[in-house]
Amino acid sequence: MRRILFLCIMSVMLYGCTQHESNEHKEKQHSDKKEALSGSEIFQQNCVSCHGAAGDLGSSGAKNLQMSTLTKEAIEVQVTNGKGMMSAYKNILSEEEIEHVAAYVLTLRK
Ligand code: HEC
Repeated sequence: MRRILFLCIMSVMLYGCTQHESNEHKEKQHSDKKEALSGSEIFQQNCVSCHGAAGDLGSSGAKNLQMSTLTKEAIEVQVTNGKGMMSAYKNILSEEEIEHVAAYVLTLRK
């Protein structure tokens, strides 16, 4: 009886392991796909809730991106580290994505 129980536990553990690996695989595929996102797609997904599609919504005290005078490098720093009500994106977006979205922010200026 104990032996059967042991076998059951082993198979559950093995099953758990294979499940985990396949999940990791999926996540990797997912992040590969994310890498290809353009600045405008990243902006739609992460920034419009406060800044609006045109950058001038101003929700949660967000600054008007059309009026911003920051350089592309300064935008990258702010998106990476966050400021005030705006959260940091360093754990959400890759460096490449932050660069893409910073370039997109510049295109919103009038
Ligand atoms: C939770 C709301 C919120 C989200 C989401 C958000 N922001 Fe912001 N953003 C703010 C706020 C608030 C400020 C003003 C921060 C301050 O100066 O205190 C700001 C400021 C900025 C500035 C600086 C403008 C300037 O001239 O000083 C940039 C650039 C910017 N956001 C870009 C982005 C980008 C790109 C994203 C998406 C990756 C994003 N924000 C997502 C709220 C947000």
